Amino acid sequence: MQQSRKRIETHGTIALTSSIAVMIEFQHVFKSYGRGRNILADINFRVTAGEFIFVSGASGAGKSTLLKLIGGLEPASRGSIQVNGQRLDKLSAHARPYLRRAVGVILQDTHLLYDRSALQNVMLPLAVTGQSSGQASARARAALDKVGLAGKEDMNPIELSGGEQQRLAIARAIVNRPAILIADEPTANLDLDTARRIMNVFRDFNRVGVTTLIASHDQALMAQYATRTLRLEPGKFFDTGALA
Ligand SMILES: Nc1ncnc2c1ncn2[C@@H]1O[C@H](COP(=O)(O)OP(=O)(O)OP(=O)(O)O)[C@@H](O)[C@H]1O
Ligand SMILES: [Mg+2]
Repeated sequence: MQQSRKRIETHGTIALTSSIAVMIEFQHVFKSYGRGRNILADINFRVTAGEFIFVSGASGAGKSTLLKLIGGLEPASRGSIQVNGQRLDKLSAHARPYLRRAVGVILQDTHLLYDRSALQNVMLPLAVTGQSSGQASARARAALDKVGLAGKEDMNPIELSGGEQQRLAIARAIVNRPAILIADEPTANLDLDTARRIMNVFRDFNRVGVTTLIASHDQALMAQYATRTLRLEPGKFFDTGALA
């Protein structure tokens, strides 16, 4: 009796585990730049599909570094990182573009191209996908529409407000329909109303299943959106919602 119940429970655990998709997994990850000190030391966490995560910590704590590791923009010094089912340190040249498409990245500096129109900026990530320019343009227009920038396709980023530029960077990050969206301080230097509008754009993507991680200094704002916090402090890492 005892044994058969145990078997059922084990079975149940397996079913439960396999139904939750792990999108990001860090195992004993260390990061230093060159020969410098460890910015991140022995970081372990797991993010499942559809989570909305706030990455917090003082300036210099390593928030941007953490997001760059997830986006594959920086290599880990030690440890294993899996993103969307792939180990980043074992990624073949062939698999790299797929990872780029699976993860939409919005960096602290938006890296918009100021000599091109808003539409051309959003079309850039589509250039390598082999779509016709008509298809790419339609996808880019749809992305601009989603972030509330319909009608501004032909404007130069310099003609857009700070909040609009942030939304343009979000449109460029989501145009490939990524499974994971990571954003580094997307509401910095914006008034509260505009910041909320930007956060609502992320919330809408998250509601349709996009796993979302946002680094920010704005604890109060993030608390309204995120359900879990990864907090970095020198030499320490806190996870408010790790799965058992
Ligand atoms: N490319 C680099 N080369 C050397 N050191 C770096 C590099 N990038 C970041 N660092 C160092 O790593 C530490 C963490 O930087 P990081 O940008 O990850 O912090 P942060 O938490 O995002 O800070 P902020 O809130 O100011 O954006 C800092 O001490 C920084 O000087
Ligand atoms: Mg930063």
